[in-house]
Amino acid sequence: MPEIILKNVTKTFDHINAVDHLNLTIRDRDFITLLGPSGCGKTTTLRMIAGLETPTEGEILIDGETVFSAEKGIDVPPQKRNVGFLFQNYALWPHMTVLQNITFGLENLKWDKDKIRQRTEKLMKMLKIEEYGNRYPAELSGGQQ
Ligand SMILES: Nc1ncnc2c1ncn2[C@@H]1O[C@H](COP(=O)(O)OP(=O)(O)OP(=O)(O)O)[C@@H](O)[C@H]1O
Ligand SMILES: [Mg+2]
Repeated sequence: MPEIILKNVTKTFDHINAVDHLNLTIRDRDFITLLGPSGCGKTTTLRMIAGLETPTEGEILIDGETVFSAEKGIDVPPQKRNVGFLFQNYALWPHMTVLQNITFGLENLKWDKDKIRQRTEKLMKMLKIEEYGNRYPAELSGGQQ
């Protein structure tokens, strides 16, 4: 992932500070984990990085670009931030197979068929789910989902 910088990021919901002046630098290609008790603001932080939640205060930079700044009035919409986000609750289409669920996003990005096939094969191999391509989400275990 690219470099992500959070400067003094705060999110207040009805006088409750879900995230309180968070300063964090995630370097390019770092793998990081947010660890903390339930309700400490992990999901809210991820949602603000993705652009699904608007911070009350602060600044967010992705790959050197300011995607949010309360002061400068910048708020780049989620689809233009080029960040992926896997929700805590599965967001899978129940009427589509595993293969269709995986290719859906790439088809929407208008990738060509060969590129989609290559990427999908690589991904399914990496996740060790090659044999489940034709199954529906309800036919998988939680982890496989
Ligand atoms: N839309 C909302 N409206 C009001 N309060 C909210 C909203 N979303 C989150 N909160 C509150 O903000 C705080 C942080 O929530 P958040 O979902 O970020 O926690 P979390 O660290 O992801 O917790 P968990 O480990 O349980 O998933 C909590 O106190 C929560 O109740
Ligand atoms: Mg959470």
